[in-house]
Amino acid sequence: MLDRIKDDTAVAARNVLVEVDHLKMYFPITAGIFRAKVGDVKAVDDVTFDIYEGETLGLVGESGCGKSTCGRAILRLYEPTAGAVRINGRDVASASQDQLRKMRPAMQMVFQDPQASLNPRMTLAAIIGEPLDEHTRLAKADKLARIYELMDQVGLNRNFANRYPHEFSGGQRQRIGIARALALNPKFIVCDEPIAALDVSIQAQVVNLLEELQDRLGLTYLFISHDLSMVRHIADRVAVMYLGRIVELAPREALFAEPLHPYTQALLSAVPEPDPNQEINRRRIILTGDVPSPANPPKGCNFCTRCPAVMPICRQDEPTYQEVAPGRFVACHHYANTTMTAGLTAAAEASGQNASGTKTPTVPKGQGIQQGD
Ligand SMILES: Nc1ncnc2c1ncn2[C@@H]1O[C@H](COP(=O)(O)OP(=O)(O)O)[C@@H](O)[C@H]1O
Ligand code: SF4
Ligand SMILES: [Mg+2]
Repeated sequence: MLDRIKDDTAVAARNVLVEVDHLKMYFPITAGIFRAKVGDVKAVDDVTFDIYEGETLGLVGESGCGKSTCGRAILRLYEPTAGAVRINGRDVASASQDQLRKMRPAMQMVFQDPQASLNPRMTLAAIIGEPLDEHTRLAKADKLARIYELMDQVGLNRNFANRYPHEFSGGQRQRIGIARALALNPKFIVCDEPIAALDVSIQAQVVNLLEELQDRLGLTYLFISHDLSMVRHIADRVAVMYLGRIVELAPREALFAEPLHPYTQALLSAVPEPDPNQEINRRRIILTGDVPSPANPPKGCNFCTRCPAVMPICRQDEPTYQEVAPGRFVACHHYANTTMTAGLTAAAEASGQNASGTKTPTVPKGQGIQQGD
């Protein structure tokens, strides 16, 4: 894989391209023959974050925590229940259909399953050319030239232009999906588990391609994944999601060196360390209990039913999502009185860690912690 040096401080100086402001996406639960609404699946529940121009923001969390719904609501592939989304300063969430159509070229999505997202009855040229038909008035020759250019960019042989999706491998199909997403020169792409359906041997090639395209075209990514090792490789900053909420957001290096939220600590404890010396000392935090239903999240902190560091207040009051150190956001009562001036060390101590990143578990002895794997 490409070994890009990512400078976290450089990211901080960049322009904000995507602003997600208190976004909620609820799906109604209906019952009975009249389909009366009896509740909501709170798939995304009050999520706020920015994405800087040219960066990759990783969005991680267990299956079902709301990552895909968040990505789709940002692009308004779903109608958000509440909140605002601004891309390049323009409000996506409340735009009219006509305004939205004009904004579409700037924001695109690469889907997890390239097989399911490509029309089996269309040729590769027709699939890649479809957005050009919808949003441009290119003459036939110019359109074909653009299709060939896109095929070159993603490493597809031009001779394949008249073939159908089933004639391609999984990796090639994902390249077609990426070419289609690039057709209208987007600024922002939501990559929803773009490599999860691919063979391991192909995953690195597709990730390399996404990185090369980002460098060449100045793209901004929201990279959704449950694979923390991959996110560690590709993301500049990482947002951790649990049950519809962002529980922690931090620059990549800081998050992996010193996770602050108990859920992040548990997630990262499951990732093997590349360094054998550190791997020996890795302490695995095993969370007990199931993830609660997003239709009926627990009162207070939504992680309180599984949190090894739970306190009485956690079952009463929802913790505030706040910046506890420059660029580091966390929603946990252990950090409630931590100010930015007090700094990260105080925040880490409050949660039972030391600032060097060696986690001092807040879990009672013998409960939920295992040595190694
Ligand atoms: N169209 C939908 N209608 C109702 N519930 C949905 C819909 N899409 C997702 N959900 C629910 O929202 C929650 C989050 O789903 P999703 O965003 O797909 O999670 P993730 O991508 O993190 O695996 C899940 O409980 C899922 O069942
Ligand atoms: S607020 Fe309480 S339950 Fe929630 S993560 Fe923090 S310690 Fe755990
Ligand atoms: Mg998903």
